[in-house]
Amino acid sequence: MSEFVDDTGASDFIVVANRLPVDLVEDSEGNRSWKRSPGGLVTALEPMLRGRDGAWVGWPGVPDAEVEPFEQDGLLLHPVRLTASEVVDYYEGFSNATLWPLYHDVVAPPVFHRHWWHAYVRVNQRFAEEVAQVAAPGATVWVQDYQLQLVPSQLRKLRPDLRIGFFLHIPFPPTELFIQLPWRTQIVEGLLGADLVGFHTPGGVRNFRWLAARLAGSRLTGGAGGTGRPGEIAFEGRSVKVGAFPISIDSKELDALARSPEVQARAAKIREDLGNPKRIVLGVDRLDYTKGISARLRAFHELLADGRIDAADTVMIQLATPSRERVEHYQEMRDEIELSVGRINGEYATVGHPPVHYLHQSLPRDELAAFFVAADVMLVTPLRDGMNLVAKEYVACKTDNSGALVLSEFAGAAGELGAAFLVNPHDLDGMKNALAAALTIAAPDSEDGKRRMRALRRQVMTHDVDRWARSFLEALGLPAADKSPEDQKADEDEKADAESS
Ligand code: ADP
Ligand code: F6P
Repeated sequence: MSEFVDDTGASDFIVVANRLPVDLVEDSEGNRSWKRSPGGLVTALEPMLRGRDGAWVGWPGVPDAEVEPFEQDGLLLHPVRLTASEVVDYYEGFSNATLWPLYHDVVAPPVFHRHWWHAYVRVNQRFAEEVAQVAAPGATVWVQDYQLQLVPSQLRKLRPDLRIGFFLHIPFPPTELFIQLPWRTQIVEGLLGADLVGFHTPGGVRNFRWLAARLAGSRLTGGAGGTGRPGEIAFEGRSVKVGAFPISIDSKELDALARSPEVQARAAKIREDLGNPKRIVLGVDRLDYTKGISARLRAFHELLADGRIDAADTVMIQLATPSRERVEHYQEMRDEIELSVGRINGEYATVGHPPVHYLHQSLPRDELAAFFVAADVMLVTPLRDGMNLVAKEYVACKTDNSGALVLSEFAGAAGELGAAFLVNPHDLDGMKNALAAALTIAAPDSEDGKRRMRALRRQVMTHDVDRWARSFLEALGLPAADKSPEDQKADEDEKADAESS
């Protein structure tokens, strides 16, 4: 039993997320195994929990799975069962065809269905009930992401003794977009059930505060407009803190992995297998229409067509994790991307040397690190992204300060990674110029390139996921864990910077 579980099996610290950190895989003979779940949420929370112990409540990733709670790496996992129709209505429907596009600047049109909403309410209630059963008196519960925005208020009704935090891993949308949602008031009030609501950026905080004043106005009990003190909203006699907490990665672990002889050797082998091209350009994403994969392929294609890059010495690799494959917009986007890859290769390949290598696969961490080490230019071009951890992972892996990062202005990471080549992914000429410039400064002897990468690494290495979790949990009132000297110094620098601006 872990140190955060009491005699009755109840937990003092619980993470609640749509998915468990591992997905259930069942083969044709009914044998069960577990594989790591996709996406940035698990990347971020897994290292934080490794050091902390506790419990994780979530869906095992397949419909109708009956799984008893089990322990993995010191963590108690509590599976929540979803029926096949709930997967369709709550997960694929309301979460990923209503909220996901709405919160990502409506880059695809959101679909509004009342029966999807009803499933969302019902499934959120089930998660809240599961947590209420396994939480020790006065426990801390950290609810994650857009799939579970009603859980804070549902859980508070069941267990008012709990300390409840909520963190949104995707952007919180501009108010003009959010108010399209027929159930906007219920969502805002759901979030206000928490003691602390966290977003990636100050923009998300502003949007939420404005919406809270407008939509939950009659139940706000604070001063002017009910918005209370800065950083707090007074709601039904309680104080709800609201803040920006930019998420990050386990930078040191990735830095060490990238330096390992195995990963260095694998990176050299990848270059060799590609025919030792002068430059490798890399994209790594879940296959999602928000990630701007088509836009980057278009930029690469036009640069080839313009003769500004040569397929004989420049190769692009696109690694794409399969994602939400039954949702219509994802199917359309996959077809579009695969058509583009086929076109580019059809026009510019020679036998054995396609200019674009496309892998629709999820890779192990060390293999992914080798691709980051091998890449001269990393293309991270989302049309909208809450943070984008891939950008930070690439930087953490460039231990010799080589390489160049092209980063969308519309990723949360752009707020911290100003030394990247920042681009507007809707501006094709701008993207082409940025990619061409990045290919130039990625030369091993470029002082400009090294200066930029050093600045990026300073930020990523000092602002890691442990710091993110600590700052959120401290704001939630959980006793601070011991800080490393580097973290103490980074905190002092940040405070001084905030005061001087
Ligand atoms: P999101 O949460 O929207 O998926 P992020 O960029 O924040 O986006 O996080 C994606 C995570 O998934 C990163 O940790 C990244 O390394 C991982 N990932 C993306 N593509 C692959 C892939 N093809 N194989 C393995 N991991 C991947
Ligand atoms: O925040 C992005 C996110 O939706 C996470 O909630 C999730 O872990 C990840 O992307 C992967 O998405 P899904 O669980 O739908 O495969």
